[in-house]
Amino acid sequence: MFENNDYFDFNITNYCNAGCPTCKRYSMPSNPHIKNEVKEFLIQNRVHMNFDDFKKILYLNEDLFFGKGAQFCGEFGDPLMHPKIEDFTIFSCKFFRTLKINTNAGLKRKKYFENVSHLKNKLVMYFGIDGTTDEINNKYRIGVNTKTAFENMNLWKKLKCEPQWDYIVFQHNIDDVENALNYAIDNRIQINLKINLRETYREIRKITKDQFKKIQNIVYEKNDKIITFQDYYE
Ligand SMILES: C[S@@+](CC[C@H](N)C(=O)[O-])C[C@H]1O[C@@H](n2cnc3c(N)ncnc32)[C@H](O)[C@@H]1O
Ligand code: SF4
Repeated sequence: MFENNDYFDFNITNYCNAGCPTCKRYSMPSNPHIKNEVKEFLIQNRVHMNFDDFKKILYLNEDLFFGKGAQFCGEFGDPLMHPKIEDFTIFSCKFFRTLKINTNAGLKRKKYFENVSHLKNKLVMYFGIDGTTDEINNKYRIGVNTKTAFENMNLWKKLKCEPQWDYIVFQHNIDDVENALNYAIDNRIQINLKINLRETYREIRKITKDQFKKIQNIVYEKNDKIITFQDYYE
């Protein structure tokens, strides 16, 4: 089965600087009296993947992995929390055809971005920022320093790399979407509007079909290939 795989996702850490309420890290209780907490097994097993183990796994399975695509998507944590993210990035860009990294971007990682920018032909960085102000972004990205997130995304652009801005559209940030699109257009940053994929939790809600159509119209009006918009799903 693995032999036919072209893309591999590695969860290199389960640490995170943020607390997005409907992330898979959280228990998401249906009972409103129970606190939404980081899942027990993640608290008990906080782990950064060992860099030497990572290399060993890849070298021992070279036929399987070499030249394929890789992603540090961060199912349970943010890849930029890993103290050796630079080593992981540099090594992976040698080993794989491409490397994609998803981050909430709120960590101060100026040196890291500068030190890996030469890998821009292989490395694609996705910045998950769901609001143009700290107040809006923090409705979902709780604890993220939004100013730092924008500084990082802009620095990546300044370093002549092409940042990918992942903006998840929820009911609470719908009025901010046009601001985000204008910012992306003005600064020539590729923006991908995503739809909340997780269940509703308190005020974290998926947009309705009508709201989707409203945003779709705004996207059509802007008519700029720098914008992509995920399809709606029921
Ligand atoms: C779980 S996150 C981990 C990486 C990084 N910490 C981040 O948040 O971008 C991986 C991907 O899931 C996406 N994601 C997070 N919450 C989501 C949600 N409620 N609905 C849809 N996608 C979501 C993010 O946009 C990101 O592309
Ligand atoms: S930043 Fe990413 S990994 Fe961290 S809590 Fe939010 S969605 Fe989950």
